[in-house]
Amino acid sequence: MKSFLSLLLVIILTIAATAQTIQSPNKKLSLAFSLSQDGEPTYQLNFGKKQVILPSKLGIEIKDQTPFLRTFVIANVESSLVDESWDPVWGEVKTIRSNYRELKVALTQMANKPRTMIVTFRLFDDGLGFRYEFPQQDHLGYFTVSNERTEFKLAGNHKAFWIPGDFDTNEYEYHETALSDVDATYGFSATEIATRTVIGKNFVQTPLMMKSADGLYINISEAALVNYPAMCVEINKESFTLISTIAPDPVGNKAYLQAPAKTPWRTVMVSDKATDILASKMILNLNEPSKIADVSWIKPQKMVGVWWELHVGKSTWNYADTNNVQLVTTDWNKLKPNGKHGATTERVKYYIDFASKHGIDGVLVEGWNVGWEDWFGQWKEEVFDFVTPYPDFDVDALQKYAAEKGVKLVMHHETSASVTNYERRMDEAFQFMKEHGYDAVKTGYVGKIIPRGEFHDGQWMVNHYIRVAEKAAKYKIMIDAHEPVRPTGLHRTYPNWLACEAARGNEFNGWSNGNKPDHETVLAFTRLLGGPMDYTPGIFQIKMDYYNPNKKEQVHTTLVKQLALYVTMYSPLHMAADLPENYDRFPDAFQFIKDVAMDWDDSKYIDAEPGDFVTVARKAKNRNDEWYLGAITDENARTSTVPLNFLDAKKKYVATIYADAADAHWEKNPMAYKIEKFLVNGKTALKLQLAPGGGAAVSITPATKEDEKKLKSYR
Ligand code: NOJ
Ligand code: CA
Repeated sequence: MKSFLSLLLVIILTIAATAQTIQSPNKKLSLAFSLSQDGEPTYQLNFGKKQVILPSKLGIEIKDQTPFLRTFVIANVESSLVDESWDPVWGEVKTIRSNYRELKVALTQMANKPRTMIVTFRLFDDGLGFRYEFPQQDHLGYFTVSNERTEFKLAGNHKAFWIPGDFDTNEYEYHETALSDVDATYGFSATEIATRTVIGKNFVQTPLMMKSADGLYINISEAALVNYPAMCVEINKESFTLISTIAPDPVGNKAYLQAPAKTPWRTVMVSDKATDILASKMILNLNEPSKIADVSWIKPQKMVGVWWELHVGKSTWNYADTNNVQLVTTDWNKLKPNGKHGATTERVKYYIDFASKHGIDGVLVEGWNVGWEDWFGQWKEEVFDFVTPYPDFDVDALQKYAAEKGVKLVMHHETSASVTNYERRMDEAFQFMKEHGYDAVKTGYVGKIIPRGEFHDGQWMVNHYIRVAEKAAKYKIMIDAHEPVRPTGLHRTYPNWLACEAARGNEFNGWSNGNKPDHETVLAFTRLLGGPMDYTPGIFQIKMDYYNPNKKEQVHTTLVKQLALYVTMYSPLHMAADLPENYDRFPDAFQFIKDVAMDWDDSKYIDAEPGDFVTVARKAKNRNDEWYLGAITDENARTSTVPLNFLDAKKKYVATIYADAADAHWEKNPMAYKIEKFLVNGKTALKLQLAPGGGAAVSITPATKEDEKKLKSYR
């Protein structure tokens, strides 16, 4: 009788509620949910009168069970309006507002053992997030997701900014084509990337940036990736439908879940202004608040490091030559030094001196520990132990030296993707760090993952990166993860997870065909939407023939654009990546890197277009009214007009403008720059001339009486 009554109730509710519509707080976006005749959950999204997502299906396939795709009825509907604010531990702005309309639709499959799945939608003014939830229930306990079938049916053949869908890497060059022209097979021959698992011609990674013919900027991505594989999408080129694809494990399953459970959020950002996409805080808002109670030890920071010299071949990670690899790691004491080892006590002291002199917080040291002779490409389980230094690296002496100079050493844990080994040794490695004065670590996952058969983007690895963040937090250690899954806003929950690589970094300019001049303008609209990147900007010596006449590689920007990246690419952790001796050649330009802040009270996205240009101004946190501005362009020269109307109208400021020289050009004349100082105020509009592949960087500080006498007004 009871079940008959509840069935009746469900039917009544179903009749009352087959279609649900909500609007975003400013009413610009509207979302409609409905069930098809077969009981298939369907949603659509509009921006004003423009269609963003046409009716698209939702659902999950479960191993050995009826799929959660159809035969649903609506069991319950709840809607609420949320408007709250929170202060990030570090970030682009001081306070973040989270304002959305939520719609929770409980769907039940009416078999003799009914099962329920909830789809939760959150509609913000700048986009939509939705996820699947599996509440605790009688007929669904532990289950295996065999596939996800989320669709995003687009309204046209949009222009897309994409890289190949791949379960192991995001380190590709971006391509800009219509959706119908996507051909990700170039990924198969991208041999400059160590480990690749390209999915196929029509698969692309998220965040996927698109622009419609009628001027909408649309971005498809995900938020709060926890206990689930990362999502890429397959493009159906007839209907322009994107279909979610998630990384499998070694036996082909996708995710193992136990009700109550929930998937990450699927996100659709949309606006008619490109700058709204860059300024969006939706992905952060969809993540859980910080799980770390005491955050006093978490610090945004700049670092130099024994790093670029390794990439340009000036020195080596390994201490000995690598031809006798069988000896190595078991008997490393017998190795003969190759005479080129980078991480020597003496060389690290030189970096510490440089950092100390210029107020740089940290010194990263790679190649300090034994194992580098046979770390690469062997799929070997026992390589590094993370606690044994090479004989020419004196941990205790350097600890003392760094402390005396007020500089922090930054640890490096390259795991060579032997993650089982890292998990076994993590506690010991973190203890070693704490004993030796380290409180930040750069991790790395170069290679094919162990456990063998797992991918960088699978559920097992997604959980690993989070385990590292959680364990590190217990030791009060900050993380910078290289080659992890792409970030999805989890730095809100784990603010000690300062940055990730998870994209094609500046390093590719040192030893491959590199990053095209538009690369950083695309990154802003794709990878960076999920979280900060350790891109390693600040390379001043642009052409690599400086190190070796046979080297044809170069950074595909001007020197000044390297400065601008500190502002356009938001991160609480940035390297001053070039060699100290190169900064000593250009001390006036290096001044900008010394000055620029790593934490902000406010950010103004002034002007942007994916693939073309980005201009941002940011107000430094805990400083006396200082602003930093970065403007970057692609291969085309550009004049960027920047009204300084964000400045205090009653005050005068000094703008120090770091500009490309008139004849600068990323290829022909990349290192030519000029630096000028002017008086400015809130009515000034700067006219910045960016060279092809160039940029501009400006620091703005309150003017002293002295400045007012000495400097000319900008005109
Ligand atoms: C790849 C990282 O991105 C790079 O920064 C690092 O130097 C090497 N792996 C070695 O760990
Ligand atoms: Ca890398």
